[in-house]
Amino acid sequence: MSNLGFPKLAGRDELRSLQLERLRRAVHHAYRNVEHYRRSFDARGAHPDDLRDLEDLARFPFLSKQDFRDNYPFGLFAVPREKVARVHASSGTTGRPTVVGYTQGDIDTWADLVARSIRFAGGRPGQIVHIAYGYGLFTGGLGAHYGAERLGCTVIPMSGGQTERQAQLIRELRPDIIMVTPSYALNIAEELARQGVDPRECSLSIGILGAEPWTEAMRSEVQSTLGIDAVDIYGLSEVMGPGIASECVETKDGPVIWEDHFYPEIIDPDTGEVRADGEEGELVLTSLTKEALPVIRYRTRDLTRLLPPTSCSMRRLARITGRTDDMLIVRGVNVFPSQIEELILRTAGLSPHYRLEMARAGHLNALIVHVECVAQSADDDSRRRAARELGHRVKSLIGITIDVAVHLPGTIERSVGKAKRFHDR
Ligand code: DLL
Repeated sequence: MSNLGFPKLAGRDELRSLQLERLRRAVHHAYRNVEHYRRSFDARGAHPDDLRDLEDLARFPFLSKQDFRDNYPFGLFAVPREKVARVHASSGTTGRPTVVGYTQGDIDTWADLVARSIRFAGGRPGQIVHIAYGYGLFTGGLGAHYGAERLGCTVIPMSGGQTERQAQLIRELRPDIIMVTPSYALNIAEELARQGVDPRECSLSIGILGAEPWTEAMRSEVQSTLGIDAVDIYGLSEVMGPGIASECVETKDGPVIWEDHFYPEIIDPDTGEVRADGEEGELVLTSLTKEALPVIRYRTRDLTRLLPPTSCSMRRLARITGRTDDMLIVRGVNVFPSQIEELILRTAGLSPHYRLEMARAGHLNALIVHVECVAQSADDDSRRRAARELGHRVKSLIGITIDVAVHLPGTIERSVGKAKRFHDR
């Protein structure tokens, strides 16, 4: 097995010098070949030759989702279109999708990084990997697929949906690893149970889960329901796709950022000022080796912290709290869906199936939490008790008054990919 591009580095100093060398090349490549970067760097008075240190990157302007829209479809590409081997796209909720492109070299690097991620999760060549991330324009399915093949695994390219079929194939083909969103993992577990199999007894031993925010409480839930080790994989299409950062199964202490290919910064989302490691803020990513679509200081809108290295010389991400655009403001208090999820899962009698709804109550807004009870607590008394308890917890830990509606098992819509937790009425 190749070392999947894992550089042989003695430590942080060597990593930093590799990063600086690659960063200089990346910034020059962007400036030379992409009109947008030339204009925005010039407007900021930042020239690629100014990069003497990694910290000098802070002088360069950010790249935003809007820049992708403004340069739709291929305006940010740094190579002639004929050199682009593949495109992916994310379905913007409004208007134009965001189109991203890869050279053959980019696809190779991506496969290496996902293979590295699977290995870090405890996966080995020869194992069977069931991929339940959606295939197609979404980066999840094909990104996972090429990585699993690169590692030398047997791939089941199931894609998302057809949940009965998913469970049947898991029973009959006996995969070792599943790559899926955490919410869909739970949905598949329910289907296994419906087909008469105890999900804990199925062949799976590792889950590589991501593409949506999830909490430590959700990790415990998925691990105990399916009897697997569940690790966190992070990525976004604008920067590459899955496999920008991924967690080590031995430590389960946050996804390791593959820093030989991506340079992370944390900024104050309001001022854009760079924050020190350990402080919470918005993650900004710069690609160090991408050819078709170099991203220099892309604002991910994901809120997290940079943590010191543990299992290798690269830094880790703390669990993503949420996205700047997913934050709810309930009577003046900022709330992320993940905070509610954590408390739901700590409340006896409640299941991990929930959705949040904002409703107007007079001139104020009110948050309604719709959540299912577990089968053993479906009587009226237990449901009332669970609703009261969750309400108290949210009030005392987050400081807002919410309405809780506890529903019967099986009544909240299940996801087949990224869960839609929030509904605005
Ligand atoms: O979701 C890529 C991916 C596929 C990652 C499969 C992991 C597994 P997008 O559709 O562009 O790409 O969505 C990216 O999803 O900015 C985060 O807000 C969120 N996200 C992705 N991974 C995680 C994670 C893919 N592990 C957006 N934890 C990102 C929390 C995540 N949020």
